[in-house]
Amino acid sequence: QILILDFGSQYTQLIARRVRELNVYCEIHPFNKIPPITPDIKGIILSGSPCSVRDEGSPDLDLDQYRGKLPILGVCYGAQLMAQKYGGNVAPSEIREYGRANLSHLDMHSALFKELTHGSQVWMSHGDTIKELPVGFDIIASTPSVRIAAYKVEGEDTFGIQFHPEVTHSLEGKNLLRNFVVQICDCSQDWTSDVFIDITIDELKQTLGDDKVVMGLSGGVDSSVAATLIHRAIGENLTCVFVDNGLLRKSEFEEVLESYKGLGLNVIGVDAKAKFYAALAGISDPEGKRKAIGRTFIEVFDEEASKITGVKWLGQGTIYPDVIESVSVNGPSATIKSHHNVGGLPDFMKLKVVEPLKTLFKDGVREVGRALEIPENIIGRHPFPGPGLAIRILGDITPEKVQTLQEVDAIFIQGLRDHGLYDEVWQAGAILLPVQSVGVMGDERTYERVVALRAVSSVDGMTADWVHLPYEFLGKVSNDIINKVKGVNRVVYDISSKPPATIEWE
Ligand code: XMP
Repeated sequence: QILILDFGSQYTQLIARRVRELNVYCEIHPFNKIPPITPDIKGIILSGSPCSVRDEGSPDLDLDQYRGKLPILGVCYGAQLMAQKYGGNVAPSEIREYGRANLSHLDMHSALFKELTHGSQVWMSHGDTIKELPVGFDIIASTPSVRIAAYKVEGEDTFGIQFHPEVTHSLEGKNLLRNFVVQICDCSQDWTSDVFIDITIDELKQTLGDDKVVMGLSGGVDSSVAATLIHRAIGENLTCVFVDNGLLRKSEFEEVLESYKGLGLNVIGVDAKAKFYAALAGISDPEGKRKAIGRTFIEVFDEEASKITGVKWLGQGTIYPDVIESVSVNGPSATIKSHHNVGGLPDFMKLKVVEPLKTLFKDGVREVGRALEIPENIIGRHPFPGPGLAIRILGDITPEKVQTLQEVDAIFIQGLRDHGLYDEVWQAGAILLPVQSVGVMGDERTYERVVALRAVSSVDGMTADWVHLPYEFLGKVSNDIINKVKGVNRVVYDISSKPPATIEWE
């Protein structure tokens, strides 16, 4: 495997994804919490950082213990750190070095650049630049404005690069990472979904033995894949609980329950609609709704779990981005990102947690899901928020409003599917606004609700853009909604990006 040492760059996770895409396993660890070097670690990548190596107290580490023993690739800050530590000079850049640049003077004999092309486009993002290299460090690439864009240490597989090979704007970045990981570190590219599945099922069998596991399913990708893996390991000792909170999409509870049964999972479907509606009655504040839903879910889940005798474990669909410890950019104290799934075990449920997906990124989870032959209606589905339609109904929640929104949403989503647009969109849905407007239907004046449609493109939900759905499509969907859904006489399309808006309206 490859060890990625994190200095707090926003791109560190991307480096890990790119390495995984090469079917090579890697892990991210904070620079100040490095695990022991075991024989299976074949190389080290040092990440970038928002800090400057020139600043007092900026992230630092003892590299002597690795240099010459393991291949090292320093990216941006990582490259600057090595240059500075061993006697070079790092100074603020005189010109801004952000965005595209082209590699000139590429040392084609370097194993790092095998099969790269002269003039290759790379992505720069740095405020400091390396002015002088230490003795024994040789320049292996420049750009028109950056003399030391890459270097190699003589007699060692130690490299530094000033650009970011992990971003897609570095057009041959993946080849460069492949050269480092496969040619230089000699990693075999055998970390595939099938290998992951075999290893994980073996580990689960060892850990769980004859113990019983309970797990909440949401209909989403992560919990479905996690449950399927656990089920392959321990069969009927896994009991799943799927709660109908009355805030799901139209017919979703029944359809997803069917899919789960098709997978052989032992699923208890719980109709708790009334409990959730009662808990939500009169609450308009978005965070108030989230809290009421969270509380009710725990109550319902706990009641079901306590019916299973002798259960020892709680299965969870936690994935890698939720558990990576990220270096704080505000100082060396290295805070840990907290996430609702991590350690999210309510105190009163004295169960141990089992999380078979906690080393995977979302795309890895999907690949594993496909290799497990989980149906595409689960694997390919858009993300859907835990509080469901409650945060797409602005204002308080009533069963009637939920039903209206379910009808609108179903027409929109089915429309996307029928027009081959569903997979073009990262997430889509409809929002019921607390607004009424005047319309005319036949000879009648109407005074009815407005709905907004939202469809966004995104990679991880952190940033998003609205999707330019065809006007004809929007026109047809709007017409269908107004004709078919009682109480709605106006449809608008949300054309805000995130930031400054968010994906959900609440
Ligand atoms: P925002 O609205 O913050 O949403 O741009 C980003 C992504 O997160 C989902 N989301 C939630 N998911 N519980 C969840 O499980 C929540 O309370 C919640 N709020 C937003 C949203 O659907 C989008 O995918």
